[in-house]
Amino acid sequence: VRPTDPLEGIHKPTDWAAWHADYDQDTPLRRRLEIVQRYIAAVVSESKRSPIKVISMCAGEARDLLGALEMVVRRDVRGRLVELNPVLAATARRRCEAMGLSDIEVVSGDAGNTSAYVGAEPADLVLACGVFGNISDGDVERTVRALPSLCARRGTVIWTRHRRTPDLTPAIRRWFTEAGFEETAFEPVPDSPGSVGVAKHVGNPVALRDQQLFRFTASRS
Ligand SMILES: C[S@@+](CC[C@H](N)C(=O)[O-])C[C@H]1O[C@@H](n2cnc3c(N)ncnc32)[C@H](O)[C@@H]1O
Repeated sequence: VRPTDPLEGIHKPTDWAAWHADYDQDTPLRRRLEIVQRYIAAVVSESKRSPIKVISMCAGEARDLLGALEMVVRRDVRGRLVELNPVLAATARRRCEAMGLSDIEVVSGDAGNTSAYVGAEPADLVLACGVFGNISDGDVERTVRALPSLCARRGTVIWTRHRRTPDLTPAIRRWFTEAGFEETAFEPVPDSPGSVGVAKHVGNPVALRDQQLFRFTASRS
C-alpha cells in the first residue's frame, strides 16, 4: 500500500540544497549544466572587456559560473551572485574564495527584486539559469523585458527553461528579441525537455528601475 502524501496536489517547497545533488550524477540537469558552462566559458574567453562583469540571478551553488571558470585561463571576473538560500550562498562564497575570485560577491537575498543588482549592473554576462521554470509566465516576461537594465550593450544573457507543454520557450525567445536582444544560441538539452538560450544585448542601454520582477511559485526547474 502506497502511503498517502498529505501534501499531494499542494505546492511543496523544493529543497534546493538536495536539488543540487542531481549535478553529481549522469542526469538531464548535469547535461544542462555542461551546456551552460560551455557558453559561459566561450563568453569569458572571447570577451575583450577586463574585468568581465557578471550577474547571476538565483545562483544556487554557482556551479555554472565556477565550473566554467575552471575551464578557462582568465580570472579577471567581478560581479554579484544573488541566492536566497544562505547555505547555498555560503557554499558559492566558499568556492569563490577557494578559486581566488575575490571580486565576486555572493549575496544572500531576493534575486527577484532589482534592488539586488544596484552597483553590479550593467553586466557583461547575466545568468538566469533555473529561474524561468519556477516563476509565472507573466514574471518570466517581466524579467526578460527588464534584462536590458542589467545587461551591458553587447553583453550576454544565458537562460534556461524546460519545454514541457505548453512550451513557453517560443514566447521567451520573442520577448528577448522585442527587448533588444539578438539570439546567438538556443540548444535543447539531450534526452530531456530542458533547453538553454543565449542572447546578446544589441539595444540601447536602459537605466535600472526599482521593480519586483518575480517570485518563485512551482517546484519545477
Ligand atoms: C533551480 S535552482 C538554480 C540554481 C542555479 N542557478 C543553477 O542553475 O544551478 C533555483 C535557485 O533559486 C533560489 N531562489 C529561489 N527563490 C529565490 C529568490 N527570490 N532570490 C534568489 N534566489 C532564489 C533557490 O534557493 C535555488 O538555489
